[in-house]
Amino acid sequence: MDLKRKRILLTGASGGIGQAMATELASAGAHLFLVGRHHEKLEAVRATLAEPEKHVVFSADLTCEADLERLNHTGNQFNQSGEGIDIVINNAGVNEFNFLASRTIASVQQELNVNLLAPMLVSKMALNWLNRPGIILNIGSAFGSIGYPGYTVYCGAKAGMYRFSEALDRELDGSGIRVLYVAPRATDTDLNSSLVKQMNQELGNRSDSPQVVAKQVIESLKHETTSRWIGWPEKLFVRVNQIFPAIVAQSIRRQQAKIHHFIGLIHPEK
Ligand SMILES: NC(=O)c1ccc[n+]([C@@H]2O[C@H](COP(=O)([O-])OP(=O)(O)OC[C@H]3O[C@@H](n4cnc5c(N)ncnc54)[C@H](OP(=O)(O)O)[C@@H]3O)[C@@H](O)[C@H]2O)c1
Repeated sequence: MDLKRKRILLTGASGGIGQAMATELASAGAHLFLVGRHHEKLEAVRATLAEPEKHVVFSADLTCEADLERLNHTGNQFNQSGEGIDIVINNAGVNEFNFLASRTIASVQQELNVNLLAPMLVSKMALNWLNRPGIILNIGSAFGSIGYPGYTVYCGAKAGMYRFSEALDRELDGSGIRVLYVAPRATDTDLNSSLVKQMNQELGNRSDSPQVVAKQVIESLKHETTSRWIGWPEKLFVRVNQIFPAIVAQSIRRQQAKIHHFIGLIHPEK
């Protein structure tokens, strides 16, 4: 899809990858609807974008039903005004690096809500007001295809995001709406604590800048690429894990002591 003058709803717009995407999309001539919980942060992002007056901010907690209803109402209003939204990017996300046994029930629920339930509900609402042709692009993770210690809930949510995207794209075949999936590997944003960044460095896990991810998202939108995994060798591990999961399990087993060491630093008493 040509992005010039397309209206794009972007969740998680105040985060590392969200800001980088907003910059790229605005430079490509798109008009953005920037969503996040904090108005000031969104305004600060808007001020940095090309043609800031073309973009609007919308503060909403995507785990709050009333906020989702407000978002739905606004989507309908845009649609009825003839200025409907062309693309929805479900990018907001959270994670907690920890053993499942050490997690609170509330933190597990929150992580599933933000990473999986909210994108499902936003997609469901968007089917009422998204322009045809239209695109829903969901941001997943390499961890959606590779189960990794310390990220059980995140892996489960992102795996769900992948299958949800695949199923909805097939369900909507011929409707004028495409559903795309982009899975970054580790990316240098505040999502990862300094301990996680240090662990990734020590394990030799490579990470990308948010700008690299943003450029790949633009490519997916332009070419309507159904699914995309970013970065070698993670892209290869995703395939190997599907066919020979024992090989990936063995390689993760070699990292296990270090992973436990870093979780222990977060929770020294455990
Ligand atoms: N960074 C990585 O290593 C990495 C790797 C693979 C995939 N990803 C995925 O990439 C996406 C963006 O991550 P990021 O690295 O840019 O993270 P980030 O810098 O922490 O940004 C997260 C964004 O999500 C928003 N958000 C969180 N909870 C929300 C809620 N309840 N309601 C509405 N918005 C909420 C935050 O805004 P407010 O806090 O202002 O509401 C922020 O804009 C996520 O889906 C993440 O899973 C990241």
